[in-house]
Amino acid sequence: MINDNPIGLFDSGIGGTSIWKEIHQLLPNENTIYLADSKNAPYGQKSKDEIIELSIKNTEFLLDRNAKLIVVACNTATTNAIKELRAKYNVPFIGIEPAIKPAANHSKTQTIGILATKGTLNSELFNKATEQFHDTKIIEQVGYNLVQLIENGKIESEEMTHLLQQYLHPMIEENIDYLVLGCSHYPYLIPQIINILPPHIKIIDSGEAVAKQTKKVLENIGFNNSVKANNIFYTNTNPAVLKKILKYEFTVIERDF
Ligand code: DGL
Repeated sequence: MINDNPIGLFDSGIGGTSIWKEIHQLLPNENTIYLADSKNAPYGQKSKDEIIELSIKNTEFLLDRNAKLIVVACNTATTNAIKELRAKYNVPFIGIEPAIKPAANHSKTQTIGILATKGTLNSELFNKATEQFHDTKIIEQVGYNLVQLIENGKIESEEMTHLLQQYLHPMIEENIDYLVLGCSHYPYLIPQIINILPPHIKIIDSGEAVAKQTKKVLENIGFNNSVKANNIFYTNTNPAVLKKILKYEFTVIERDF
């Protein structure tokens, strides 16, 4: 089936581009529209109601531009709002949730770490999902300020290294062998995280799984059949940081919402 409408993605900011990259790699012919709601970042410190309200605003923006499917490229928005979005709109939604399951299933020390926002770690969806892993010790850590630093282009700053050390050292001491990145911004921190973690600790994020799931949903609603895809990125703050993180020459960035 042919369907050349775009895949819509949104995040509280630029982090969800880590998910966009995985989707674009797997489905290079698909048209995409990405919405970075950086003006309202971070979502992780907001109430559930505020996150639902912002997620509705973002969804309507993407639906107004004919999105055939919406990827909630934000763990915080997924864990707090996807149920409400699915109930309200008649379009398929794909969410991202921290990859606790593969980490817990493969852990030999039966101890895993998760770095995510407060909004994700406190959500009902996340807590229900972790309930089933009784035999695994899950060390939860809120990544306070990490999203703000990424949004401000300070991925490689000393402040970032210092915060990561502060968050990860207690997990290393607890003998984790998997670290789950439960926020779509955090894959951009992997180079620094690798410098802090001992080499036997594996890092897992959800990007590849989301891309595979997107492909599966498109099998039902249709793929684009043109060879040249159109990728549009929208941001409501200064686009410089988004441009830097994307590094794609064909990128069109608009700033009109
Ligand atoms: N990328 C969002 C997530 O995956 C960041 C949340 C925030 O803005 O705090 O949770």
